[in-house]
Amino acid sequence: MTHRRVDLSPDQYDERWAALAATGAEIHGEVDLVEALLQEHGLTGAVLDAGCGTGRVAVELAARGHAVTGVDLDPALLDAARVKDPRPRWVTADLATLGPEVAPGPFAAAVAAGNVMIFVARGTERAVVANLAARLEPGGLLIAGFQVRRGRLGIDEYDEHCAAAGLEPMAHFATWARDPLDASADYVVAVHRRG
Ligand SMILES: C[S@@+](CC[C@H](N)C(=O)[O-])C[C@H]1O[C@@H](n2cnc3c(N)ncnc32)[C@H](O)[C@@H]1O
Repeated sequence: MTHRRVDLSPDQYDERWAALAATGAEIHGEVDLVEALLQEHGLTGAVLDAGCGTGRVAVELAARGHAVTGVDLDPALLDAARVKDPRPRWVTADLATLGPEVAPGPFAAAVAAGNVMIFVARGTERAVVANLAARLEPGGLLIAGFQVRRGRLGIDEYDEHCAAAGLEPMAHFATWARDPLDASADYVVAVHRRG
């Protein structure tokens, strides 16, 4: 049982996003939504970028003034993140086995953007969600966006993991721009809240 690896070098991964940005595409939709949700929920605390990779989301959050911790199990990706921006706290760790002393928080939000929930090893999703939920302050948000494919993590299964971790469902969207989710959706952005 192993996690999926990004099949690009750290530089190639970043170059792909930079090329997309150069076309005029909005590449910070995740951060826009995270910021909006924090504001709507009256949350002002730090954010955990779970499965941060090369820091695409964490760096943008830091640039907008948020305290951020980025966690990833791939040290090469974290090295690239550190070079880009020393402000976030960068932690090498496996989200499935995160001990209570590692990036303990509490966080106002934990963000699993860029398909992290289907990159973690199959069968560890419940532990990952539990570990993220445990780091949220009361009222804190778990925000995850991932592709929904046959044989991978489904929305119902993800919601069950959240419920088991004591999280309440707040919203499901089809995109980070809050487009409504319908039955044919192949991508979900799920927002859950710690009671
Ligand atoms: C597609 S990348 C997304 C990176 C980043 N969130 C983004 O949106 O640009 C998925 C990331 O999840 C990380 N990952 C997978 N399983 C993990 C685990 N068990 N613990 C921590 N990170 C994990 C990978 O190393 C990779 O950086």
